[in-house]
Amino acid sequence: MELVTLVRLEGVAKHVVLPDDTRLDILRGIDLAIDAGDHVAIVGRSGSGKSTLLNLLGMLDRPSEGAVWFRGEPVRKMRRGRLDRLRGRNVGFVFQQFNLLAGRSALENVEMPLAYASGRAFWSRRRTATEMLERVGLGHRLESTPEQMSGGEQQRVAIARALVRRPALILADEPTGALDVDTGGRVMELLDEIASEADAALVTITHDLHVAARARRHFRLDAGVLSPFDLTQPSSGDPSEAGEPALAASVDELGSPAPTRKDARDAAAAASVTAGISAQNPVEVPS
Ligand SMILES: Nc1ncnc2c1ncn2[C@@H]1O[C@H](COP(=O)(O)OP(=O)(O)OP(=O)(O)O)[C@@H](O)[C@H]1O
Ligand SMILES: [Mg+2]
Repeated sequence: MELVTLVRLEGVAKHVVLPDDTRLDILRGIDLAIDAGDHVAIVGRSGSGKSTLLNLLGMLDRPSEGAVWFRGEPVRKMRRGRLDRLRGRNVGFVFQQFNLLAGRSALENVEMPLAYASGRAFWSRRRTATEMLERVGLGHRLESTPEQMSGGEQQRVAIARALVRRPALILADEPTGALDVDTGGRVMELLDEIASEADAALVTITHDLHVAARARRHFRLDAGVLSPFDLTQPSSGDPSEAGEPALAASVDELGSPAPTRKDARDAAAAASVTAGISAQNPVEVPS
């Protein structure tokens, strides 16, 4: 069977200019191709560029250098409306900060991506969203708002929302970060299951080696540079360079996240996702 390359990054770099006029290189020389049905895990320390990379793969952000291709088409050449539509139909994000709509019930949050679908997907949106919430173990909390839910419950609502459209590309940023080991394991099973039902590609960012081990291919990001990561090999050379010590360090750093610029970016990204499935961009869901 010929593999269809869903998304490809070629020579991608991302840099920003900080307020003091210095340049911050966030990502450098990234080449990565992700096929339908692929499962890729990316690990790395806090601040190494993981969320930035995910936003590029999901076409929420544009690279400073290099090119992004979606199903063989250069993203750079796509008009805004078309890009939003493409993203709305094909990409399911599980944001690191969840980005749920405050004051709206879990059901409303999960239904949101189907609100502008056509035909059966539209008419059965309530049932589809309910079923997805049941699958993440929240069938009894349909009417609860994010404010009334724990971090782990909100994370599961965010996962249900990302999966409800059966996207071709699922991008999950620390999808088990707020979950206990058992719930995290179940949620990863669900992500795998939904991905394989739809032959979707799944990209998981994680600092949990057990979560990473579920993937077929493994990479690590180190100060913006992506390289293959062998989960089976103990680290060699400088222990801070690879392997469990580095990952353990990243766990510590992630322990008590403070609000950062990244939060603002994630919020903007959520707004963009919502825009991508707005009235002018109807979403079609394969039934
Ligand atoms: N728009 C921006 N302006 C300035 N700095 C930015 C911007 N976007 C990202 N950064 C910086 O780039 C680096 C990488 O950010 P990113 O959010 O991708 O890291 P991460 O690997 O996801 O980290 P974490 O594990 O903590 O979530 C960070 O130092 C961040 O502050
Ligand atoms: Mg991040």
